[in-house]
Amino acid sequence: MTQARAYTNIALIKYWGKSDITWNLPTSSSIGLTLDQLYTDTRVDLTDDLKQDQFILDGQLASNPRIIKVLDFVRQQTGSHKYAKITSENHVPNSAGLASSASAFAAFALAASDSYGLPTDRPSLSRLARLGSGSASRSVYGGFSIWYQGYDHQSSFAQSILDPVDFGIRVIDVLTDKKTKKIPSSQGMQRAQSSPDYSNWLSQSKMQIREMIAAIKNKDIEKIGLIAERNAMGMHALNRSADKPFDYFAGETWAVINDIHRLYHAGIPAFATIDAGPNVKVITDSRSCQKVADQLKNFGEILIQKPGPGVVHV
Ligand code: DP6
Repeated sequence: MTQARAYTNIALIKYWGKSDITWNLPTSSSIGLTLDQLYTDTRVDLTDDLKQDQFILDGQLASNPRIIKVLDFVRQQTGSHKYAKITSENHVPNSAGLASSASAFAAFALAASDSYGLPTDRPSLSRLARLGSGSASRSVYGGFSIWYQGYDHQSSFAQSILDPVDFGIRVIDVLTDKKTKKIPSSQGMQRAQSSPDYSNWLSQSKMQIREMIAAIKNKDIEKIGLIAERNAMGMHALNRSADKPFDYFAGETWAVINDIHRLYHAGIPAFATIDAGPNVKVITDSRSCQKVADQLKNFGEILIQKPGPGVVHV
């Protein structure tokens, strides 16, 4: 038996498109910051008794084809024929754009690798996590990490940029809407790739990766926030200009963004980023986060997050 814990990460430069669905290879590199509040604990038990894999999520029997896909790959790598019992506890509001698949597959990658005797170095874990969910490759690491696009299973993995984080960056989740998102990210990105602006977004993103790494190394929260916000707005513009247009912004998304801009113009570092859901995340600093949280608390539940750790055994 082995059990692992991994935390969610927020993408500062987004992963928004696949070049290969089977291997889950992305169309661009992405950068994430692992956070410290929302996590998944996953336990893997190998037994001779089971006739198939069994997945228990938050106490209930569940099914997830991506888990089977990862386990089949692990069995193929190791030559094992054993089935696994996977027990997973999410400490994440599910499907609210809070990237629960990232923490889930990062924890699962360590627990499964350990159980079946695969290498548990972080690049290897990030490859395995990626097979389950792309953003999970970054949750293997604490702090800031980059997931390199690569061109095959071996070359598409994540690496640390900075961990631990020795400056006061904070991310505030503004949970205006806890309902399940309508379009899963894998479908959303597939549709976004039909946008006439897609190749332009990819070249922007390439430049933004370099700028973001420099901003992180310089501990420049203002730059990090500005680049992240521009990248995120670009991603959502793709969705609106897709062949079948769609939009994750809903309800109070714009109202929250407008308030964030008001704070910024009043001299407070506050920048917006949004994933595949309506909830806004604010990038800010330790001095301003309480003020920002107070300003936005009327929109819904507020969660202030600090940089968090990489995947560990528990
Ligand atoms: C908008 O990692 O959930 O959060 O690989 O299909 O599981 P799959 O996609 P997923 O996509 C995350 C999209 C995003 C941006 C990001 O985290 O980089």
